[in-house]
Amino acid sequence: MKNVLRIAAVGDLHCRLSSKGQIAPLFARLSEQADVLLLCGDLTDYGLLEEARILADELKDVVARIPTITVLGNHDFESGKQVELLHLFSDAGLILLDGNCYETCGIGFTGVKGFAGGFDRRALKPWGESEIKAFVEESRQEAARLESSLALLSTPQRIVLLHYSPIRATVMGESPEIFPFLGSSELEAALNRHAVRAVFHGHAHAGSPEGHTQRNVPVYNVALPLMRKLYAGQPPYRIVEVTVNPDHCGSDTTC
Ligand SMILES: [Fe+2]
Ligand SMILES: [Fe+2]
Repeated sequence: MKNVLRIAAVGDLHCRLSSKGQIAPLFARLSEQADVLLLCGDLTDYGLLEEARILADELKDVVARIPTITVLGNHDFESGKQVELLHLFSDAGLILLDGNCYETCGIGFTGVKGFAGGFDRRALKPWGESEIKAFVEESRQEAARLESSLALLSTPQRIVLLHYSPIRATVMGESPEIFPFLGSSELEAALNRHAVRAVFHGHAHAGSPEGHTQRNVPVYNVALPLMRKLYAGQPPYRIVEVTVNPDHCGSDTTC
């Protein structure tokens, strides 16, 4: 009986038509090292079904061994095929989170893609042109969906997957000019209203690997280029161990 759940996380695989044979090796040792894999969006580069098919094939050994939980990223929306992508990945055995949840060993996983808008006092406000209001509204809707999904979970511990960052600290390292396009404090506000154990996101490829919310919840930026730098010479994913009650393990559920 296990009393620790090992969570591996990486984002921004950006699978391309030329990625065949290049992604599976990244996860060759994964099932010895982790019990769950989180993929934090930008699974594909252009959101093409063919890219998604290649990725599903690259991940088939991982998916067969451990729960593989994911959210989509902005690149997965590029070709307008996001619904088809969701179905394709779901048929391939991935667990897609988009306001729904998954529970294992007393840990609840939930997530949304999130959206842009900026951080703290410099966040974009819904004022002026209708296009600006619509942009901010999208950010608020994603945060509201995150909050609703957190409320669905009654597990002792909650883990959140996002593509966009909920805090400024983990986008530090990127050009300040693009901070507003890398995440939104609306997401952090939703996180602050619930007890959350950890948050994982991607999208900020040149950001910082770790930060905290105002409530001191760890936030991990697991974008692949960042993980390659952080873990040079090792598999490019972060592993976080979470203590669990062995009595809670054995029956995984979706919600
Ligand atoms: Fe990305
Ligand atoms: Fe992205």
